[in-house]
Amino acid sequence: MTTSGLAHIGLGWPSDGSAEVGAPSSGLGWPGRDITPSHAFATQRPVTTEIGTPPTDVLVSRETARDEYVEQLSEREQLAASLPEPGAETPLARAVAEDARRRISLTGKIFPKPDHTRVLTVANQKGGVGKTTTTVNVAAALAQAGLRVLVVDIDPQGNASTALGIDHHADVPSIYDVLVDGKAVVDVVQECVDVPNLWCVPATIDLAGAEIELVSLVAREMRMERALTAYLDGTAERGEERYDYVLIDCPPSLGLLTVNAFVAADEVFIPIQCEYYALEGLSQLLKNIELIKSHLNPGLHVSTILLTMYDGRTRLSAQVAEEVRTHFPDHVLRTTVPRSVRISEAPSHGQTVMTYDPSSSGALSYLEAAGELADRGAAGQDAVLGARTASTHVSQSIPPNSN
Ligand SMILES: Nc1ncnc2c1ncn2[C@@H]1O[C@H](COP(=O)(O)OP(=O)(O)O)[C@@H](O)[C@H]1O
Ligand SMILES: [Mg+2]
Repeated sequence: MTTSGLAHIGLGWPSDGSAEVGAPSSGLGWPGRDITPSHAFATQRPVTTEIGTPPTDVLVSRETARDEYVEQLSEREQLAASLPEPGAETPLARAVAEDARRRISLTGKIFPKPDHTRVLTVANQKGGVGKTTTTVNVAAALAQAGLRVLVVDIDPQGNASTALGIDHHADVPSIYDVLVDGKAVVDVVQECVDVPNLWCVPATIDLAGAEIELVSLVAREMRMERALTAYLDGTAERGEERYDYVLIDCPPSLGLLTVNAFVAADEVFIPIQCEYYALEGLSQLLKNIELIKSHLNPGLHVSTILLTMYDGRTRLSAQVAEEVRTHFPDHVLRTTVPRSVRISEAPSHGQTVMTYDPSSSGALSYLEAAGELADRGAAGQDAVLGARTASTHVSQSIPPNSN
């Protein structure tokens, strides 16, 4: 049997160059290159020989049968030897090498402090695209790099609070008390025990009713912005260091809670899942951001897009990533976050992947993404994209009773 013969029967054998022109390739992922298979043994055996089955002909002496079996075994060894060695060209080895490279380049990387507190709303009205995962992991990565970071959880499900190991049962003072009862942020904020420099305003289940309760309240779209500004402005007075980043984790809707987050922020950070339907609904999101920009917060702009749950084994992921990059060339971070079991396991331990498994490829990706976010802010790329300046701050430009 020749190796090109194996290619014919669809075992995915690589073409050794001796195959007839037009011989079908298996499509099973074998490299299409010459790997010098053993022709010597390949031509010795009849095509009908079943490798690995000892001859059973009773007329053949035991010794002959054993010899033949040994010969067949050696065929198998040769067959195994002719397989490509797992080297740099295998996907796993490539991934390991790539992770090692990233770890080396990220070790000791300095994350620049922004010249003002950057407030980012992490939004996408689709559920399950990685908003919460992105919020908590980017926040943890920035904090681990020495920056002071606040996460504001405004999703009634409280997933960001869970992932940061923050107590958020029904009686805990939370963002609900801030938005609906006018409580100060300083009275509800909690420190994340696992990550120094990281703080969180938790969300409790009470928030589920807030969308309706907010409707009848004064300045319903701006309650978060006012509370947050008061808190951030008070850091010096409280003897605290200034916050470098505030990340607001939104619910999967474009209701009043998300509007409050848009009004409170300078920048919108959109995670996009590398799946079919990824771009569906994005135009609605962008339209809403434009509406907020023209009526409530002139400085609001989309500054960052992160591709999440990228699956390198599927062509679909690559196609979605390419399409998003074509549409938003200036906004999409170079880093993509792979689909990773470690990322999805971390919240069940009340942790981010940054502490749960810091050397995993998911953690490295979030660290890399956070580094890019920080570098872009420091390089003024954010300003080029239209960052809000102090003079356009919403609380100064919109009268309190305008709604
Ligand atoms: N890169 C990833 N790899 C694997 N699972 C992920 C990844 N990112 C998010 N997940 C999982 O997908 C689900 C939805 O993510 P989540 O961040 O909660 O989305 P959203 O906040 O947009 O609803 C969660 O179970 C989360 O653990
Ligand atoms: Mg979420």
